[in-house]
Amino acid sequence: MLEAEIQKVRQQAEAEIASVTDPQHLEEFRISYLARKGQVAALFDALRAAPPSEKPRLGKLLNELRSHLQMLFEEKSASLVPKQQGTARTDLTLPGRKHFRGTKHPVIQTLDEITSIFISMGFGIAEGPEIETDYYNFGALNFPPDHPARDMQDTFFLTEQALLRTHTSPVQIRVMEKHSPPVRVIMPGKVYRNEALSARSLCVFHQVEGLYVDKDVTFSELRGTLVAFAKQFYGPNLKYRFRPSFFPFTEPSAEMDITCFICSGAGCRMCKQTGWLEILGCGMVDPNVFKAVGYDPEKYTGYAFGMGIERTAALRYGVDDLRLFYDNDVRFLAQF
Ligand code: PHE
Repeated sequence: MLEAEIQKVRQQAEAEIASVTDPQHLEEFRISYLARKGQVAALFDALRAAPPSEKPRLGKLLNELRSHLQMLFEEKSASLVPKQQGTARTDLTLPGRKHFRGTKHPVIQTLDEITSIFISMGFGIAEGPEIETDYYNFGALNFPPDHPARDMQDTFFLTEQALLRTHTSPVQIRVMEKHSPPVRVIMPGKVYRNEALSARSLCVFHQVEGLYVDKDVTFSELRGTLVAFAKQFYGPNLKYRFRPSFFPFTEPSAEMDITCFICSGAGCRMCKQTGWLEILGCGMVDPNVFKAVGYDPEKYTGYAFGMGIERTAALRYGVDDLRLFYDNDVRFLAQF
């Protein structure tokens, strides 16, 4: 008897679910069959009165009925939901979504321009690792052990010997170890310094290093190359000067200044009232560096230079805070 009931409920439910077309009707279906006081629950109640020998078989049929109706309910519920969302999604009166076009980061643009100027002058490109040893970052570049010159660039040490390079000059050593002269390369890359962030200094930034080694390379060639570069990069009417400076790996050493293009030399905040902006460090490769890489300093001479890219980009675009380059505010970045 109960078995016939089960069969009947099943057929009824199947017929009914087929006619369900809206959520309200579906809810009525659920209440009628699957709720706590629904027809399936009533059949379970009736099972209690069945003869004990029949109980296992009837119980199984009832469980099957319950999961079958549950499945019919869920299938129908899934088929109703997307239809509802579908109409919402195709609301043609909504404004469209705007897509932003990406731009090249101003620091990378600057780096690309600098490298292409030097490539046009016959320089090749070389790269080296950002994790360096004390030897490549300092020792081979003629920084004596425990010399205060090491403090010129506060260093992030990883271990006693391994560090994040503080400049791109170690790539000079790696290039010269691999190739014999003539060597004429620029070496772009990321460098790290243990410094507090400020408008004027970052702890991660980029440099471009240059190196030219051959017989009879002179300081006036260094000057000529750098002046030609600066005129192409900053404009043909630029005024410049070279000031004596110090780097352990060059002798003599110099820094190149250009007239401040904000105030044209009158003095302003950008140039700290001096009228001049420092753009790079340079010099003739120190003979001790040649010795470290096995070049004969009696036979070869060379020059090297290095410049910071963020600083160069800031000067060129008149940006007065280097941190702006890395805030990643698209309103700032989209201007370049
Ligand atoms: N490595 C120097 C710096 O980071 C720059 C430099 C490179 C100076 C090559 C001279 C020659 O400040």
